[in-house]
Amino acid sequence: MALRKGILLAGGRGTRLHPMTIAVNKHLLPIFDKPLLYYPLTTLMLAGVREVLVVSDAADLPDLRQAIGDGRRWGLSIQYAAQVGPRGIADGLLAGADFVGGAPFCLALGDNIFFGHGIAEILADAAQGALENKAVILTQTVAEPRQYGVVKLDDQGRPVLLVEKPIDPPSNQAVTGIYFYDSRAVEFARQLHPSQRGELEITDLNRIYLERGDLSVKPLGRGIVWFDAGTAQRMLLAAELVQVIQSRQRTGIAFPEELAFRLGLIDLRAFALLVDDMPHGEYRAYLETVREEFHVPAKVQQ
Ligand code: G1P
Repeated sequence: MALRKGILLAGGRGTRLHPMTIAVNKHLLPIFDKPLLYYPLTTLMLAGVREVLVVSDAADLPDLRQAIGDGRRWGLSIQYAAQVGPRGIADGLLAGADFVGGAPFCLALGDNIFFGHGIAEILADAAQGALENKAVILTQTVAEPRQYGVVKLDDQGRPVLLVEKPIDPPSNQAVTGIYFYDSRAVEFARQLHPSQRGELEITDLNRIYLERGDLSVKPLGRGIVWFDAGTAQRMLLAAELVQVIQSRQRTGIAFPEELAFRLGLIDLRAFALLVDDMPHGEYRAYLETVREEFHVPAKVQQ
């Protein structure tokens, strides 16, 4: 069995990005050369997810659908579901209850960006944990843990404490916005009560797993970059980093077309046709370099 399903949360009002988010869903804003949502979408693909449910406010679903589509061209199935108001990450998970239907799944926050050496292996490993009846979270060392969920580990790397945005952080290990759950997650999420900020907190769900001894924590090493692009400053930083790596190393970050091809979800011919159909620009220019790597002439004969 493999973990195939993923929920991608793309809701919220994006108030910290006002006025950019008055007319546009935050996850459709650009991080350098592609919409923010492409980054967590490709992270899900790397984790093995092939069926995605995008959850957002009903009013934003048409735009999201237009930007991402049904996923078929990338060898995926992408569906959409509405969440009623910003009631928290765990509430977004509940909007996907029918979609997951008792299977293990991955939950990704639409503003979290991951890349770096070994990320595919880490994600595959975490997905395996969910198949073995655990919840798995990934953590990263941060300078400012107060802004995040924070976990404290014992000497053996087992979690002993989990707190959301602590005033006095017990460690500098932040919980990143990608979570892997076994089949009990929906049932546990239904037991949650809103926090002081009126949300169903994902940290409270993870704490249920922690208290049962079923939460596994995988720290991301220093070779992995993690961003949550929730503020204008972090969006700019993320964009700069993506631009530097892509131009200097000619390594594409978060191109669904390239990843679908490299993962074998579409064949070379389908990939080449996708590139052919694309308007000319920097995004296409990169994909053309990938196509040339496989010796496909500039225009595929149909
Ligand atoms: C949420 C979670 C938090 C996690 C963070 C990662 O925070 O509540 O535990 O560390 O995402 O991006 P929020 O985006 O709600 O501030």
